[in-house]
Amino acid sequence: MKAAMKTVRTIDELRAAVRAWRREDPDAAIGLVPTMGALHEGHLSLVGHALSHARLVIATIFVNPTQFGPGEDLASYPRDEARDAAMLEEAGCDLLFAPAPGEVYPPGFATEVRVRGLTDVLCGAHRQGHFDGVTQVVSKLLNQAQADVAVFGEKDWQQLAVIRRMTRDLDIPTRILGAPTQREPDGLAMSSRNRYLDAEQRQVAANLNRVLAAAGESAAAGADPREAEASAVSALIAAGFDRVDYVEIRDGETLEQVSVPDGRSRIFGAARLGRARLIDNMALPRPGATA
Ligand code: PAF
Repeated sequence: MKAAMKTVRTIDELRAAVRAWRREDPDAAIGLVPTMGALHEGHLSLVGHALSHARLVIATIFVNPTQFGPGEDLASYPRDEARDAAMLEEAGCDLLFAPAPGEVYPPGFATEVRVRGLTDVLCGAHRQGHFDGVTQVVSKLLNQAQADVAVFGEKDWQQLAVIRRMTRDLDIPTRILGAPTQREPDGLAMSSRNRYLDAEQRQVAANLNRVLAAAGESAAAGADPREAEASAVSALIAAGFDRVDYVEIRDGETLEQVSVPDGRSRIFGAARLGRARLIDNMALPRPGATA
């Protein structure tokens, strides 16, 4: 049986716990699951994924101010650490690192971490500076924990691609793993921001996954990708979304636009509904598979 999960709030305490684990069992792999809290089944699946690659798992809860733009939901982002901690412990997490903002960004903090190119498209084009905040905090968390593996959800595919690029470019030795998107029974990707939806919006929201899947299938079957994207935008507006930030078919690794879909192509979408900005993505069926 595992020992009770401990919560630590300082980098020194985190490092001391990791040092003690390494001393006790130098062969035990350590996994890291960074989160902003407001946990749901999707986050718990990240912990499960980490546990399949590591014996000891650290989760972090930190609502990172630098990845929210002006007018975004930093102040109202749901926070319930006691509930989140209970869920993490139940999922098999060994240590929770929940620092205060001043621990992560002490007075005088002045360093930026920016991945060029990959951050200029998709969500990066609609949320100025968002990925700079993500790479800033994730590079710090990876350095602080020095875990063997770190797990991020494939729902935020662009974030995963950016973090992989950053760790390669900066020679950060932690192996980055992606974990499959967890979905509600009607296909809606699980997200902390789904709780912003009222009952009617919740019905509309399920169309994001359906519309993207249909557009991806049509492009894989030979439709022009730009036409498939445009039809998907119209279908989302017709379904009741307030605004569509983008629907785009791009390469899953380079995130470059795709004219002729291949086995690496994915369809990405982001749309707004009330207070919620929902994102989703999925692999296109292999070309020919739908013919
Ligand atoms: O995906 C998230 O929840 C956040 O972007 C992350 C990776 C925890 C960094 O704040």
